Amino acid sequence: MTTIKVQWPDGRSTVETIGQDWLKAARLAGIQIPTGCLGGSCGACEIDVNGAVVRACISTVPGSKSGQLMVDYATDPHW
Ligand code: FES
Repeated sequence: MTTIKVQWPDGRSTVETIGQDWLKAARLAGIQIPTGCLGGSCGACEIDVNGAVVRACISTVPGSKSGQLMVDYATDPHW
């Protein structure tokens, strides 16, 4: 399987390619993820993916056994 359904914070869902950069996937889906350093150190871009916080600027869309990823904004950004 090379694609996965992603549900975005605004309730819409899209089908994304596994391995795609999160920031690019979000932008194409019309979702604004805040960014800062773009290098993995500031935490501005943190999102919650199926309950785990990831830094979107250094992460890609993962596979999931459930075939679906629930994305939300991280509740405790560092800024
Ligand atoms: S933009 Fe700074 S950690 Fe992602």
